[in-house]
Amino acid sequence: MNIHVLRDSGESKDAVLLMFRAEGAAWSEEDRLVAGIAGPDAQIPFSGKAGRTRLCFGSAGRCLLVGLGKADDLDLDGFRAAVGVAVRAAAGQEISCLAVDSAHLDRLELGEDLTLECVVAARLAGYRFVAFKSDPGDEDCPSSLLIRSDDADMEAKVARALAVADGVVLARDLVNTPANVATPEYLAGVARDLAAEFGFGVQVFGPEEIVGMGMGSFASVFRGSDTPARFIVLDSAPGSEDKPLVFVGKGVTFDTGGISLKPPAKMHEMKGDMAGAAAVLGFFKALGQAGGSVRRVVGLLPCTENVPGSRATKPGDVVTAMNGKTIEILNTDAEGRLILADALAYSARFEPQILVDLATLTGACLVALGTKVAAVFATTAELDLRIREGGSRVGERFWPMPLWKEYGVPLKGEVADLKNIATREGGAIYAAMFLKNFVPEGVDWAHLDIAGPAWTDENASIFRPGGTGFGVRTLWELVEAYDGREGEMAL
Ligand code: BES
Ligand code: MN
Ligand code: ZN
Repeated sequence: MNIHVLRDSGESKDAVLLMFRAEGAAWSEEDRLVAGIAGPDAQIPFSGKAGRTRLCFGSAGRCLLVGLGKADDLDLDGFRAAVGVAVRAAAGQEISCLAVDSAHLDRLELGEDLTLECVVAARLAGYRFVAFKSDPGDEDCPSSLLIRSDDADMEAKVARALAVADGVVLARDLVNTPANVATPEYLAGVARDLAAEFGFGVQVFGPEEIVGMGMGSFASVFRGSDTPARFIVLDSAPGSEDKPLVFVGKGVTFDTGGISLKPPAKMHEMKGDMAGAAAVLGFFKALGQAGGSVRRVVGLLPCTENVPGSRATKPGDVVTAMNGKTIEILNTDAEGRLILADALAYSARFEPQILVDLATLTGACLVALGTKVAAVFATTAELDLRIREGGSRVGERFWPMPLWKEYGVPLKGEVADLKNIATREGGAIYAAMFLKNFVPEGVDWAHLDIAGPAWTDENASIFRPGGTGFGVRTLWELVEAYDGREGEMAL
């Protein structure tokens, strides 16, 4: 879907104008004017119920009315869902060009710059993954969306919004790409391409270098695989002395469980076990396309398969992580924490201002919070709040979980310093507590367990079945906040 800004509403005459309506809300005079529906008494029979649409004809041309549901319940999530409904309905009606009026959106009073939220939602609702189809078929969204606005900065703002959306799209594509294609080296290729395009620094380490750096915990996961592992370092300001915001993403390109093999049901979804790494790459794409940030940002992506093999790590094996701690691996399916441990320890050299990791880390997190909400484990209240507030604004919800030191006790090892698993009960917390052992001293850290919302079966709202790109927008919000520009944009 092409999305662009028009200053003169005359140019969008042939487009179908989107008008969002809450249940029972009266038509304002301004909206009547925009829609070309004259007269205070003119009847427009449309309920405004969520999920409903109606095509009508005003003197200004055709209008697609889109229901927002009850005005009292309305929030940005409801708005994004309505944009999804509009995009799908327009495709069903074979409407090729939609328009939306910025002033109309502002009158919904859902926060500043709703137009930009509309742009992102429209782009995501029109997303399809067809890279592996011999016949991709028709798009199921209109070919263009025109933004009518008299804001002189709207073009630049829309370009930034599209940068964010393109970042989410990249993350979705990477998660959806099967594991025989999206290998660790493939992810490294994506990182190199981003670096070349936007001037980021990039370093890619192979298995021998990873072992050479003392990352025995990371290495224990890739030992069983013939597909070479990669440790990817992206830097938005290479050569800078600034203390960066450091984002770590779990990049398990396929998780069979290793010797502690998973059951076959739904195992194919484990091609998405690199969603954390995909979110960081998606964030860097957005950052590059939007022209960078004030703050230096570093991405650390440990990438490998987790498969059984004659050289694979066996339950009971003991390995040493980069920070010197020894780990008894009692379950090779608890591999995400093993690769993240060394990536977190590696971050010390950057003296991070904050350290945030994203990982599809535990099934237990899905049990705790369901498929739509991620867990946040943070060492400071400020970081916890910034992630939860920024995330909710953009439809990525996080719920706080504890890091009380009592949770560390069952992870103490009999044979080594640590065991990589504790009990099933509280599994998401033990995974987080395990990671905490590798966070450099004094660094503010947050662990985001995105096992639930990284993937969806839903084909509604702004979602298509498969990867969601969850996390990209939260990282964006976080960097905006640290850039000191919060409040300037609704995005
Ligand atoms: N990648 C999985 C977690 C996961 C499960 C993500 C379902 C998305 C959907 C992770 O590596 C894993 O296998 N975790 C184990 C840990 C256990 C062995 C302590 C789990 O959650 O079962
Ligand atoms: Mn696993
Ligand atoms: Zn995993």
